[in-house]
Amino acid sequence: MPRKIVVTSALPYANGPIHIGHMVEYLQTDIWVRFQKMCGNKCLYFCSDDTHGTPIMISARAAGVTAEQLIERIHTEHQKDFKGFLVEFDNYYTTHSPENKHLSELIFNSLNKAGAIVKRTVEQSYCESCKMFLPDRYIRGACPRCKAEDQYGDSCEVCGGTYQPTDLIEPHCATCSNKPVRKESEHYFFKLSNYEQKLRDLISQGYIQQSVANKLEEWFKTGLRDWDISRDGPYFGFKIPGEENKFFYVWLDAPIGYMASAKNYCDKNGLDFDELWNGPENELYHFIGKDITYFHALFWPAMLMGAGFKTANKLFIHGFLTVNGEKMSKSRGTFIKASTYLKYLNPEYLRYYYASKLAGGVEDIDLSTEDFINKINSDLVGKLANLASRSVPMITKKFAGQLGRLDDQGRGLIEKLAAADAQIIENYESLNYAAAVRTIASLADEANRYVEQNQPWATVKTDLEKTQTTLTVIINAVKILTIYLKPILPDYAKKVQECLDVGEQNFADVKTMLEGHKINDYPRLVERIDEEKVKAMIEESKESQSPQPTVNLTEAIKPECTIDDFAKIDLRVAKVVKAEKVEGADKLLHLELDIGGITKNVFAGIAQAYQPEQLLGRLVVCVANLRPRKMKFGVSEGMILASGAGGKEIFMLSVDSGAVPGQTVH
Ligand code: 2FM
Ligand code: ZN
Repeated sequence: MPRKIVVTSALPYANGPIHIGHMVEYLQTDIWVRFQKMCGNKCLYFCSDDTHGTPIMISARAAGVTAEQLIERIHTEHQKDFKGFLVEFDNYYTTHSPENKHLSELIFNSLNKAGAIVKRTVEQSYCESCKMFLPDRYIRGACPRCKAEDQYGDSCEVCGGTYQPTDLIEPHCATCSNKPVRKESEHYFFKLSNYEQKLRDLISQGYIQQSVANKLEEWFKTGLRDWDISRDGPYFGFKIPGEENKFFYVWLDAPIGYMASAKNYCDKNGLDFDELWNGPENELYHFIGKDITYFHALFWPAMLMGAGFKTANKLFIHGFLTVNGEKMSKSRGTFIKASTYLKYLNPEYLRYYYASKLAGGVEDIDLSTEDFINKINSDLVGKLANLASRSVPMITKKFAGQLGRLDDQGRGLIEKLAAADAQIIENYESLNYAAAVRTIASLADEANRYVEQNQPWATVKTDLEKTQTTLTVIINAVKILTIYLKPILPDYAKKVQECLDVGEQNFADVKTMLEGHKINDYPRLVERIDEEKVKAMIEESKESQSPQPTVNLTEAIKPECTIDDFAKIDLRVAKVVKAEKVEGADKLLHLELDIGGITKNVFAGIAQAYQPEQLLGRLVVCVANLRPRKMKFGVSEGMILASGAGGKEIFMLSVDSGAVPGQTVH
């Protein structure tokens, strides 16, 4: 009996592009789903964009569009990226859907009935100018520990400290810069602790990998706290039933989005959703990254249990991607968007490379660009595709594409290759793709040794029959190895299938020998990686650092100001009379400005764009009436005008050399 399996990947946020870090999970899942389908199982793969929450609302405002318009645009982009990487969902939906609204309300109401929802008053930061409660990331100020300026409300990017937004020095709203106030509001909480025993039982039944189960034990020990599942408006999400201005927190409706995507698929395809999700023989698996374990190992199953739904059989948790041993980095050009990768390289290179690294654990995987190039060129091109390029053209040219029969030696090799299926299937099933790839590569080594021993390029001049036998053996090896690789390399496999004229191949087909069969002309299967293209991709990723309006939260358009407000700003021509680096602050320069007999000290964040000596004597524009601000390194008494994306990309506004310091700038 074929198994009936439902599989999901975590839902990507609809406020930014897919990058190669995300792709670890989608490729890991897609390979598993394709593998299950090739085993004859009924496997359905569901995903969606995760569309709700404050960041999306603010990104949309910043881009001057509605949230609905933003998520629609991103939906199209995400789908294009996934298609480019050959990720084949059975349904790629959106959490901003009627199905998700219905299921979120249903689950919330069921939890409420079960006594798992309570209301409590909480006090939070509120911006009176933006008229909204501010999540921690939207409050900025100086770090209470190291005093670094302009840090988030929950953690400091300079010293790594974590704290409450109320601890920030001079906290201000990231959008409008006003000082937030504390304000009370009533919130809904989910009583997670009601489900502690059931959650413990679930974990003990193997719901998550052992290494993560230990982490869960720590969380149980610390105690399961009630979870705040509501947010006050303005918020982009679903309204809580019976409330006017309260919404479900995005993390409540996001995992329900798995169900909504499945429900939408069932409705479109005449399937019974209740059977698909709750049916006892149906298996359900969620692929996720380790950072969202808490949500998927505790909140989500507890919500399902409380609302009377079946929980997943297992979570498959993976680690993060590092590139050349370090976190992906915009400045090093290793923060590579899926669309940028696809401009330069074949998606199957990355599918193969990630597969060769993924072993089913939660450890991070590293993409070393040098290893990536070597592995593709030596294994994929040099060992695997090479078998086909050494046999197919000769068989079509010399034998009109006609295969012969296998001799004893050849049959021995082919049977050995085919006998590896059980091991390879087990490796795929347990997500140990790295082991599968190693076995396939070593089988390819054996097949290549057979080619070396039998030298068809030499025997073709003396013994055509022997040559046809040798080539028939190699073609059979190509067929089997391609079946093994097919979950990883679907396009490559398709080309081989068409060339061998064998139709859609599944795992069961490794046992069928091709003899006396006619094959088609040789297609180019896969090119070697051109190192220059990898370099160009990295270069382009460096350039594409400029803030994306859809992800840069500080870009939101601020509340209106009047012409009178604007007129308060006194802009003056200023001459830089002193410029020096600031010890301990590699972004800052200390400038002394002459604005017509008055000297002002200014700390400007331009040190990465300018050397002090470039500035001496230059005429710049200064905000002369800015209230002095105390900074860690001294008092800053003004601000100079510049534009650009930041870092090296800062361009100071220069003034005509005929201008006089102190002169007003209009
Ligand atoms: O962490 C994230 O990127 C979330 N958007 C994942 C959501 S997964 C599921 F719960 F919806
Ligand atoms: Zn504000």
